[in-house]
Amino acid sequence: MLTKTRAAKTAHRSQPRPGFFSEDEHAFIEGFLRDGYAIIPLEQKDRLDEVRRRVYELGCEHLGLKGSKRPSLEEFLDHTERFAGVESLNALRLAVINGLNSDAQLMRGFFDMARRPIEWTVGNEIAMQRTINLSIQLPNDDSSLLPLHSDVWDGNSPYEIVLWLPLVDCFKTKSMYVLPRAQSRKRIAEMRGLKGFDAEKLFQRIKPELVWLEVPYGSAVLFTHCLMHGNRINEEKTTRWTFNIRLKGLLTPYGAKELGESFLPVTTRPATRIGFEYLQEEKS
Ligand SMILES: [Fe+2]
Repeated sequence: MLTKTRAAKTAHRSQPRPGFFSEDEHAFIEGFLRDGYAIIPLEQKDRLDEVRRRVYELGCEHLGLKGSKRPSLEEFLDHTERFAGVESLNALRLAVINGLNSDAQLMRGFFDMARRPIEWTVGNEIAMQRTINLSIQLPNDDSSLLPLHSDVWDGNSPYEIVLWLPLVDCFKTKSMYVLPRAQSRKRIAEMRGLKGFDAEKLFQRIKPELVWLEVPYGSAVLFTHCLMHGNRINEEKTTRWTFNIRLKGLLTPYGAKELGESFLPVTTRPATRIGFEYLQEEKS
């Protein structure tokens, strides 16, 4: 852990020169630094509607829901438990995700819908996860829970952020929770040096400090996975459908998920390409 003097000496390395950000960019950045997350309205809502439609079609196709058996889009997403049991959920998830991952236009749509806040958070040379992840959480299903954690504890880079994007309104236990940044830092500092911990016990202890994110359809969450976060059993009456995609500054340090493997560059600028190619040529 950094001592106070060392922390003060190294702070200048990450603190930007004042006045270089626009006013709204500055306000967003200050909020993200304070909370470690931001709930953002998505742009180009028709592209989100298109993704939702595609998910519905892929899901119905996989489950053989045709003709009069085919429910409305709303019923399918809200009450997925009427068409798929817990045991068949993973196959449904994979069928949908494989259908989406093979569509480059749709993949780009995810990025475009949140491009401005993503760039404000990680910069404009970005590496994006090669594939998107989908999570489906039926009401009262305890099979796909994420206990309190930070992804950095599993070796992921602390420079990554997550775009968490729901296809339905998410609220209360149908959503995810985060421990805002100041509290996360404090709790993580307390835990440093401990050999292990009981996630459930810690969850119960810090429950009053957790924030359950209210994310209506048409919005998404950007959060740093340095924060402690997780989910619980969905005790609401409808199913949760959410995507998550990792993003990071292309040239920031990588962790367990590497460039070329899990991450692909998406917005490399010419100076970076020229520099990279120059150094490669020098080596050969
Ligand atoms: Fe996580």
